[in-house]
Amino acid sequence: MLKNYPPTQTIAWKKLEDHFNALQPKHLRELFSQDPERFRKLSLQFEEMMFDLSKNRVTEETLDLLVELAQEMELPTAIESMFGGQSINATENRAVLHTALRNFSDSNLQIDGEDALTEVRDVQQQMKTFCNKLHSGEWKGYSGKRINSVVNIGIGGSHLGPQMVVEALKSYQKERIEVYFISNVDGTDAAEVLKKLDPETTLFIIASKTFTTKETIANAETARDWFLKAANDREHIKKHFVALSTNTNAVEAFGIAPENTFRFWDWVGGRFSLWSAIGLSIACALGYDKFEEMLRGAEAMDKHFRKTELRQNIPVLMGLLSIWYTNFFGCQTHAILPYDQYLRLLPEFLQQLLMESNGKSASRDGSDVNYQTQPVIWGAAGTNSQHSFFQLIHQGTFLIPCDFIAPVNSNNPIGQHHTMLLSNFFAQTEALMKGKTAEEVRAELEAKGNINQEEIEELVPHKVFEGNRPSTSIMFHQLNPYTLGALLAMYEHKTFVQGIVWNIYSFDQWGVELGKQLAGKIEEELMDTSVKGNHDSSTNGLITYYRQHQKN
Ligand code: F6P
Repeated sequence: MLKNYPPTQTIAWKKLEDHFNALQPKHLRELFSQDPERFRKLSLQFEEMMFDLSKNRVTEETLDLLVELAQEMELPTAIESMFGGQSINATENRAVLHTALRNFSDSNLQIDGEDALTEVRDVQQQMKTFCNKLHSGEWKGYSGKRINSVVNIGIGGSHLGPQMVVEALKSYQKERIEVYFISNVDGTDAAEVLKKLDPETTLFIIASKTFTTKETIANAETARDWFLKAANDREHIKKHFVALSTNTNAVEAFGIAPENTFRFWDWVGGRFSLWSAIGLSIACALGYDKFEEMLRGAEAMDKHFRKTELRQNIPVLMGLLSIWYTNFFGCQTHAILPYDQYLRLLPEFLQQLLMESNGKSASRDGSDVNYQTQPVIWGAAGTNSQHSFFQLIHQGTFLIPCDFIAPVNSNNPIGQHHTMLLSNFFAQTEALMKGKTAEEVRAELEAKGNINQEEIEELVPHKVFEGNRPSTSIMFHQLNPYTLGALLAMYEHKTFVQGIVWNIYSFDQWGVELGKQLAGKIEEELMDTSVKGNHDSSTNGLITYYRQHQKN
């Protein structure tokens, strides 16, 4: 059981408040010039990965105090409780064991009387056999042709992780298999994907932990109708539909054969599930061996998180930095900026991971928290984002901590592209940190020689960059399955650390329920005009407008 204790009542919190008051006025420029060793002291290495924290508004003392906070909030005990399979997801009475999905040790982990690791390995073997049949062409469609298109139908955690990874590792993609995704209940999503496909050579993966998610079931039914229109025999479903779910009864009721069902367990949260059978589309795209390399990267990060002292522990420090900015600086958002086109979906994936996990306002005893929790996560790939929202990060009124993420080597080394890309990466983190003073702006304008003093003074306030804008830089040698696994596991553990310090439950998502319930009722109303809802005037007005103008 996780303890219930408000972080604001800790001794470390008080010390951090005092420390914040002393540090807040200091400019990062000053911190760098005072200490030539700042980069060495404030950057950490994990295997070949580099995490540079030195461009954050912190000193070594800040990190020491944040670690004291984590100690007071009993983070080490919480970490052991998670890895040990205790029911730390208390509001759903479940263990939290996504780490078991990438645990290759020969240990034993008893959950509900079963060895979780043995069960995991059985499903992994099933996935491997399936992928081998698919890639060798042994698995054939109903007309005897080999499968060349795989469509993952799922939403949220059953979609975002697989799609992001398939995109991120495109350069490792197997030949002859194209992987597609359908998630949105908007029929356009299914229509646009299905029109590219041939039912004889397409296999659908229905990915749903609960197998009750309306969007996924609607899309799965649409795919089944589309398929049966061509195949004309329900018997053929078993060659073209497989399911990934904890709800084997519902899968069977849908018509998917038990031997085509890949199980997972309640102790895998949706947004932490890409390592489970939910990752089947990843294994289809890359081959099972590459999927396993990704698991091994995650396992290495798990070991680091579990065994490394807090002060040197990368996910711990990353999580604590977020506490520092959210609760002391009052930052409301955090930007994720991958300088790698392949990682362009990472911000979206991290939105669910962090915001669905820690977007909570009830503390563990049910009382309202009286401090901020999860900030808004957003972002996009560099350099495109530099030409859209970077203006605000540089000169806007909000302080926005950023994670810059880049590989040293590109998977597509073309001409000078990667040098240009990384020049931008380094330049942006430097500019955010240093800014540009009024004196520097004046000197620059004067050097031009074609502009008078009055005009210079008018321009100065617009061209000044305050700087002192924090960023963390994450670099690695090259984007590959192992490194990606480690990076994603790092963000998962960061999420956990934040939830522990904020005294909230990170592994439920009750906030998504209300919208689902209301949509269900309104759907009945829209289908049958005799059903009358009891809504506010705005909702009534919108429904009336819809009815008046609906064509089909
Ligand atoms: O968005 C709510 C949620 O429950 C997510 O946590 C989950 O990833 C998603 O819906 C999909 O759920 P399922 O895999 O059960 O279809």
